[in-house]
Amino acid sequence: MDITFLLNGETVRLTDVDPTRSALDWLRETRGLNGTKEGCNEGDCGACTVVVTDEGGIRALNACLLFLPQLHGKALRTVEALGEAGQMHPVQTAMVDHHGSQCGFCTPGIVASLVAGHAQGRTDHDDVLSGNLCRCTGYVSIIRAAQAAEDGEVPDWVEADALAVEAMAGNAAQIDSADALAAWYLANPDGVLIAGATDVGLWVTKQLRDLRKVAFLGGCADLKGAEIGRDTIRFGAMTNMNDVQAVLAIHHPSYADMVRRYASEQIRNAATIGGNIANGSPIGDNPPALIALGATLHLRRGDERRSMPIEDFFVAYGKQDRREGEFVEAVTLPKSAPALRCYKLSKRFDQDISAVCGCFNVSVENGLVTAARIAFGGMAATPKRAASVEAALVGKPWNAATVTAALAGFAADYAPISDMRASAAYRQITARNMLSRYFADLSGQAVNVREVHA
Ligand SMILES: Cc1cc2nc3c(=O)[nH]c(=O)nc-3n(C[C@H](O)[C@H](O)[C@H](O)COP(=O)(O)OP(=O)(O)OC[C@H]3O[C@@H](n4cnc5c(N)ncnc54)[C@H](O)[C@@H]3O)c2cc1C
Ligand code: FES
Ligand code: FES
Repeated sequence: MDITFLLNGETVRLTDVDPTRSALDWLRETRGLNGTKEGCNEGDCGACTVVVTDEGGIRALNACLLFLPQLHGKALRTVEALGEAGQMHPVQTAMVDHHGSQCGFCTPGIVASLVAGHAQGRTDHDDVLSGNLCRCTGYVSIIRAAQAAEDGEVPDWVEADALAVEAMAGNAAQIDSADALAAWYLANPDGVLIAGATDVGLWVTKQLRDLRKVAFLGGCADLKGAEIGRDTIRFGAMTNMNDVQAVLAIHHPSYADMVRRYASEQIRNAATIGGNIANGSPIGDNPPALIALGATLHLRRGDERRSMPIEDFFVAYGKQDRREGEFVEAVTLPKSAPALRCYKLSKRFDQDISAVCGCFNVSVENGLVTAARIAFGGMAATPKRAASVEAALVGKPWNAATVTAALAGFAADYAPISDMRASAAYRQITARNMLSRYFADLSGQAVNVREVHA
């Protein structure tokens, strides 16, 4: 595989690239750019954060979960080249002035995240840093530095990198459209599709799997983005979670709030909605919300297409209704669902996978429940609807007595497991509590579930 990209302003052409070599290993071992650190090698700590510009703009990514071919046609900046003309970037100067670093191990990653956020004009520094762990400085001085740098000048390389990416647009990727992907997968049904690589990356870095036949979907522009129709939203499978969140913030604010807690800034910049559905994880955050919305999944195999209610896709643990050579093309959801609420329970606010994720969408007319779609992650081997709970609600008055009676349905619907995230008993209790919370929420009662420290 041959690739071309910009590294710190300089064009790099690589031939015969090992498709699963991480950008982190290549930067450190081949290029000697050791400023980018390796901490966890699984997307959790942010020490490896780099700044990447592509057709979608500038963003922070974890270099440990970035395979070299994913850089084709993009511009990569490491901590060694964030300043300009011998001067540090305003973020770097502010980090020094505000004592934002002690041992310094996390600092290159923190600076890379803040530089990407600075170029985007962001002031939500907590979110920008959601994927960067610092064990010794403490975040107060880092946030002070971020605030102090807000008005600093954006360096010229930000525009130069964007222009260089535009100029490289003619260098087509190996697979540059859904049609090309369909043909490739039909011919190579044993191949591995790589979307954002936030799962597949770990197969390589943690499970040391040798992936020989892979297809990178990043060049399929026609699988990216949202089409907003009169009544529906259609997300292409390759839409990343930050782009998904931006659309949801307008149409489904509760779902968007949950996505804000999906992993971290860096992971959301990489992970795709298609990958999050295709992997069939019982603790993925999108499936319960999409089931509660009654979303439709669109699959494609060669030129054949089929669609299904998304809950039918999840057959059993690790088994989805996907044929050989078939891939997820898109998902369609209703544009409006004012009663939708999504609750994610995890041990940490940011950068943590759900222990329990409950999504509720109950329709009430003239005081009676006319329809109910309730789905959970973390309660079964697949994302799953709460059929008994729903049946106990439909046709009944929407009041506390009905909700209390429906709670018994959880025992029939789910037999969760105990694992490192939560015990089975805790999961059952919290799922029940989420239904009570939903009732309180829709009844306009304040539900304070998070202590906020100023
Ligand atoms: C640090 C960290 C934190 C995380 N936190 C969360 C979290 O809070 N919530 C959550 O839900 N998940 C979380 N995840 C899991 C991960 O982000 C998601 O599962 C992700 O959405 C997978 O998407 P991807 O594009 O990265 O897929 P990839 O890793 O590229 O692929 C995943 C699987 O799907 C297949 N695939 C990808 N796209 C398609 C397609 N279009 N058609 C068919 N098959 C396809 C691949 O072949 C592979 O089997 C986290 C992961 C990490 C590393
Ligand atoms: S090394 Fe920890 S996120 Fe990459
Ligand atoms: S400065 Fe030591 S880990 Fe952040």
